[in-house]
Amino acid sequence: MTPKKEIRIGLIGAGLMGRTHSNGYKRIGDFFPELEYRPVLKAVCSRNKESVQKFADQWGYESIETDWRAIIARDDIDAVDICTPNNTHAEIAIAAAAAGKMILCEKPLARTLAEAQQMVDAVEKAGVQNTVWYNYRRVPAVTLAKQIIDSGKLGKIFHYRANFLQDWTISADVPQGGTGTWRMDVDAAGSGVTGDLLAHCIDTAMWLNGAITDVSAVTETFVKERMHQVTGKVQPVGIDDACIFHCHFGNGSLGLFEATRYARGHKALYTLEINGEHASIRWDLHDMNRLEYFDHADDSIVRGWRSILVTDGDQPYMKRWWIPGTIIGYEHTFVHQAADFFKSLETGEPCAPTFLDALQTQKVCEAVLESATSRSWKETGATDV
Ligand SMILES: NC(=O)c1ccc[n+]([C@@H]2O[C@H](COP(=O)([O-])OP(=O)(O)OC[C@H]3O[C@@H](n4cnc5c(N)ncnc54)[C@H](O)[C@@H]3O)[C@@H](O)[C@H]2O)c1
Repeated sequence: MTPKKEIRIGLIGAGLMGRTHSNGYKRIGDFFPELEYRPVLKAVCSRNKESVQKFADQWGYESIETDWRAIIARDDIDAVDICTPNNTHAEIAIAAAAAGKMILCEKPLARTLAEAQQMVDAVEKAGVQNTVWYNYRRVPAVTLAKQIIDSGKLGKIFHYRANFLQDWTISADVPQGGTGTWRMDVDAAGSGVTGDLLAHCIDTAMWLNGAITDVSAVTETFVKERMHQVTGKVQPVGIDDACIFHCHFGNGSLGLFEATRYARGHKALYTLEINGEHASIRWDLHDMNRLEYFDHADDSIVRGWRSILVTDGDQPYMKRWWIPGTIIGYEHTFVHQAADFFKSLETGEPCAPTFLDALQTQKVCEAVLESATSRSWKETGATDV
């Protein structure tokens, strides 16, 4: 067997996403054995030496760093994986691009459109391979939805609606800022549910249904002040706790989106539904192996919503896993993205969504927030992804 070419990974951030990505890198050799490249877990970086060493020991990284600049400076790192809070993405990515590293960056690409544009400029100037971990594109049922839509089975699309509902910030005692609650601090996160949750919905929506052209949004911050873990003071909350927007897509369809962290009982309920002239599709993260499908062409006496269990070998990604009827989970979406990234190094193709694709989502997020502030419709300027 030809020895595999090595891509030496420098992972920055050792939290939730650090774990999902590490798992992805570790699995691809076994489940995508034909790949010409293989990841080497060269170094992991986080600010606390003791905890990052523990992470390295657990996940099998060869070395640790406590300053991300050291990762960028190392000659033995080929690809930088950014799994840190949103306020660090731009600085790290721009430095990594300047050093000629490949970049895999968590979503949202950045806090603002201006930051995101600088990141796109940096990777384009450097000509380095780049991707953004909008992992829901790689849920097999969602990939299948894309194939069904692209085959024309839905006909003209009329409606796209998506929700992302959580309930973890209802208590006024939840602090903002610092470890674990950086998402509550606008300086660290850039925005609240818009950049955190709706960004996922928008990326999937534009991938499935084309560009969102203009938006009208409302946002609300239900708890106006929270203790800041870094300053120790009670400070105004700058993030959106909830956001609802409606929109037009370039293909003439209408969109309706909602995200909140105040939907008691919902932990991560991402759902989407698309209604076309001939057929409809819906999907639910809590039942992620299923795709619901309604086809008006069915015989009227048996016509109804079918629930397709997406586990057969001819359905996206599933021949990699077990046997028909046995399901996979959230972590596999990151395995798929890692594998697709390594495949893209063989083919020389971009690994979507690229920074440029993620910039389109950032345009929509920015227009949503501007629309909510100005109480007016906003053009997004987004193009198809
Ligand atoms: N794709 C998805 O579904 C998904 C899910 C969750 C989070 N995310 C994104 O992933 C990123 C990280 O989120 P998370 O949930 O893993 O956060 P987390 O809080 O669990 O982990 C963040 C890690 O970054 C480290 N860190 C923070 N600042 C750093 C710095 N300056 N230098 C080095 N390390 C630093 C922290 O110590 C921690 O290890 C965010 O951008 C978030 O939006 C994406």
